[in-house]
Amino acid sequence: MKVLSVVGARPQFVKAAVLSRALARHGIQECSVHTGQHYDDNMSDVFYRQLRMVAPAYMLDVGSAGHGAQTGEMMRRLEPIVEAEHPDWVIVYGDTNSTLAGALVAAKAHVHVAHVEAGLRSFNRAMPEEINRIVTDHVADAHFVPGENARAQLQREGILEHVYVVGDLMIDLAREVLAQLPARPPILDRFGLESKRYALATIHRASNTEKETFTPIVAGLRRLPGRVLFPVHPRTRPLAEALGLGQGDNITLSEPLPYLEMIALQRHACGVLTDSGGVQKEALVAGTPCTTLREETEWVESLEGGWNVLAGSDPERIAGAGMRPAPETPLGGIFACDSGCAERIVRALLETARLPSRR
Ligand code: UD1
Repeated sequence: MKVLSVVGARPQFVKAAVLSRALARHGIQECSVHTGQHYDDNMSDVFYRQLRMVAPAYMLDVGSAGHGAQTGEMMRRLEPIVEAEHPDWVIVYGDTNSTLAGALVAAKAHVHVAHVEAGLRSFNRAMPEEINRIVTDHVADAHFVPGENARAQLQREGILEHVYVVGDLMIDLAREVLAQLPARPPILDRFGLESKRYALATIHRASNTEKETFTPIVAGLRRLPGRVLFPVHPRTRPLAEALGLGQGDNITLSEPLPYLEMIALQRHACGVLTDSGGVQKEALVAGTPCTTLREETEWVESLEGGWNVLAGSDPERIAGAGMRPAPETPLGGIFACDSGCAERIVRALLETARLPSRR
């Protein structure tokens, strides 16, 4: 069996790192394409180094552009590669423009599409990610869903076949990394942080990087009763600078931080505030309460017991929730699932390999 994986943005490197290892263990040939959606060293290369990933066979170098231009350019550059490599499967991850481009090219080339993290919905079509998820799920041939909620959603949309409940690659990797953390990770010293005495914030969603939403979020962060470390996504940097974040307030800005340091910081924070899908999950796995800077979440299980709280861009709710104590109730749903997601995906791929060829 031969698979072609399409990645392009930070969370996809993390997920692909885990699955690639399992594919290799089963002797499945993998060819990886990096679209270049994320291209800075600290947004891309550092993940390959830390997670000891094989360099991509193809770099598309698409870079940043509007949604249509970025997705279209990815498709234009990906199509001849899919034709030349002729894989049994194209594997796409999550909900980015790289996911959409990979799924559409493969489906139109009559190559089977496997979607990892299928079935998630925010029910907010103003999010570009929601459009990417819906379209990808409806052209995919195999759907790897993290839990029963996602399976039920696909069922409601009429997707019944080749849906596999497998758990979550990001949760598995975060658990692995957490188990190996030193008692006091050096990244705390770099920023002079005391364990459980600071909050960690990340903001990059399109809707939160507009002045009207970013300004009240910042007001909420500034009202938190402790220091806030804020690694700034390139999309967010101009706004953070325009509002003078980190000058005479409780906020410390940094460049985007590598994966292992982010896991360590989430473990030692007393609260994580984020609009990222992946960080919401990682914070909880690290045992740290999360405050989501959105009005909805795809990870509905995270809300159980108050582990994750939705605060939108409301300063009051952000300040009230951001450094609250951890709940005592155990986590449920996908957070209680056994590790082994990558093995389950590979086994299902091998089983589904008997699908009749689309050619
Ligand atoms: C993308 C995904 C989002 C995912 C996120 C992870 C879509 C629609 N969104 O959002 O689902 O959660 O990645 O971070 O696919 N930039 C740089 N250097 C880089 C990368 C980006 O400067 O290495 C800048 C560019 O100016 C770009 C902006 O950041 O315009 C945003 O990048 P973009 O690729 O549009 O998506 P993200 O916001 O990162």
